[in-house]
Amino acid sequence: MAKKILWGVLGVLGVVGIVANFWLFASPSIDSDVTIPTDAEAIARGQYLVSAGGCGSCHQDENSDALSGGYAIETDFGTFYATNITPDTANGIGSWTGSDFIAALKYGRTPDGSYYYPAFPYRSYAGLSDEEVLDMAAYLMSLDAVSSVTPAPEVPAWLQRWTVAGWNKLADFAEPAPEQFSDELVARGAHIARHLAHCGECHTPRNGLGIPDYSREYAGAQLGEEVIEAIDAHALEEWTFENFDLFLVLGMTPEGEFVGGDMNEVIENNTSQLSDEDRDALAAFFTRHRQE
Ligand code: HEC
Ligand code: HEC
Repeated sequence: MAKKILWGVLGVLGVVGIVANFWLFASPSIDSDVTIPTDAEAIARGQYLVSAGGCGSCHQDENSDALSGGYAIETDFGTFYATNITPDTANGIGSWTGSDFIAALKYGRTPDGSYYYPAFPYRSYAGLSDEEVLDMAAYLMSLDAVSSVTPAPEVPAWLQRWTVAGWNKLADFAEPAPEQFSDELVARGAHIARHLAHCGECHTPRNGLGIPDYSREYAGAQLGEEVIEAIDAHALEEWTFENFDLFLVLGMTPEGEFVGGDMNEVIENNTSQLSDEDRDALAAFFTRHRQE
């Protein structure tokens, strides 16, 4: 009798283990027949998205314009290197398929099913549409291949890639359901702020595990030595739509001060390059509390 119960318990534990394992390490379901477009329009759209998405801030080589990587990102969890994302087959993304790009950008998964570290802001890019990701891929594939090798990340021994599977699940629980907006311009602005331009990666505070505290979205944070100001409704109380629009072009606050540090780069490389419509959308999203 006791033996039967023991086997029963072990059997149940085994099933729970298999289910948990499957749940934790399951591959994202992505259409396997997605193709990377090659037409000039897709490449042009991709170029715009790569610029607005700030890919170059991390992936651009310091000595050239090439997206051949090498930039070191220092964090509390180690040093991470943005990779070579030029179409070099040996060291870049030259042999990648459309699904590889979707798995990487939207799910943080490597082509062989392993995990990227969240120094790569894939959790923000998760909200991009497959079309946006494939257009970016089209642009990246159209660039000149550079064969530089990216250094491996320097992380403590316990921080194996597979541990990110658990981290992703915890972050999933913390993340609120996507917000619906009735105003189309504000909705577009939310898409750019929360996903494409990933403003929250710097401006939203994180807990001890590095998971963003979404209940305090844009409440400001500290990255190493750098203090990152709050840009939530309270902090932007005095900012008008026009103030914000101008800030995105020039980096000038309503008090006439120019921002410095990393924000200066965000202005120069990303927000000042946005179309007038997309800049208006961002301004509408961040100053929406004034219209309410
Ligand atoms: C904040 C810095 C940062 C930004 C911004 C960023 N990346 Fe990355 N990216 C990284 C890091 C770091 C890695 C490597 C992560 C690792 O080692 O696990 C990476 C990895 C990748 C990879 C995997 C490459 C490979 O060889 O495995 C792709 C593809 C990629 N990024 C594309 C993009 C695109 C496209 C954008 C813009 C939409 C972008 N990244 C923006 C930091 C960044
Ligand atoms: C790579 C990190 C990073 C990203 C991404 C980022 N910011 Fe910033 N931001 C900063 C830092 C750092 C400052 C403070 C600069 C300073 O001290 O001069 C700042 C300052 C600001 C300020 C000025 C606040 C004030 O009261 O002076 C605004 C507004 C702002 N950011 C908006 C945005 C928006 C909108 C986005 C997304 C399009 C964004 N930021 C993305 C790092 C970032």
